[in-house]
Amino acid sequence: MQNLIDGRAIAGEIHAETAARVVHLRSRGIVPGLVFVRVGEDPASQVYVGMKEKKSRELGIHSETRVLPESTTQTELLALVATFNADPRWHGILVQAPLPRHIDQATVYAAVDPRKDVDGFHPINVGKLLLGDAGGFVPCTPGGVHELLVRSHVKLDGAEVVVLGRGNIVGKPMASILVQKGRHANCTVTVCHSGTRDIAAHCRRADIIVAAMGVPEFVRAPMVREGAVVIDVGVNRVPDASAKSGYRLVGDVAFGEVQPKAGLITPNPGGVGPMTIAMLLANTVRAAELAGQ
Ligand code: GUN
Repeated sequence: MQNLIDGRAIAGEIHAETAARVVHLRSRGIVPGLVFVRVGEDPASQVYVGMKEKKSRELGIHSETRVLPESTTQTELLALVATFNADPRWHGILVQAPLPRHIDQATVYAAVDPRKDVDGFHPINVGKLLLGDAGGFVPCTPGGVHELLVRSHVKLDGAEVVVLGRGNIVGKPMASILVQKGRHANCTVTVCHSGTRDIAAHCRRADIIVAAMGVPEFVRAPMVREGAVVIDVGVNRVPDASAKSGYRLVGDVAFGEVQPKAGLITPNPGGVGPMTIAMLLANTVRAAELAGQ
């Protein structure tokens, strides 16, 4: 069935555009730089940061990863962020979440220079997104979902969108992007969460469902209107005795039963995941372009 949104292919298009911008920057003597900070040895973070750094290098972005021990204090981490803020080699700074429990994530993200905040997590960038000020940085995952929708020619103007999940990394910024007045937005957005009375009823009305609440296979076929666009942001570990690792990854959408009903749907993996990296590197290059003006 040809209703898949190929996130790898669309991410590939964006990487090609980003690579061309890197070439242009380098011709002006500017090498875009992106520094990663990882605290502790969270296995998923090791994989994610490794993938992001590898892709950065492939595109000609100078990148390094600083790995700090789990015992790092918040003061030490803030001091490191301050050195990166002051270092003109770094146009982007990414502190990978989750951080150890003794470190306050919001304090760390607020300490990153907003001009280097390629994650889009600084309160100034969060505010700009909500205000419709295109001068800030948009968080990579919801920004990537938006690109998937736009580049797949999904009609957004006037669309009924249901966002499942109200997290700061995906749900809230996703709603902020799609509710804006203007081209490639102008949606009627409903955000559902654990306090919502009848999530299925909201979903059944939706032209577009963005599932980002972190519940394995939450979205089932009866919740989806025939022809709806379904975007699966979920990455959930579920125990699987037959897997070597003892677990397997599943999304927030029961793909097998939802795909036949959907107008378009993201596979998982191969849908939203590759877009997050593509948007991160596009944000980094934009930070370098703005710094070089
Ligand atoms: N952990 C999971 N997703 C992200 C992300 O987009 N940025 C950062 N910094 N950490 C994450």
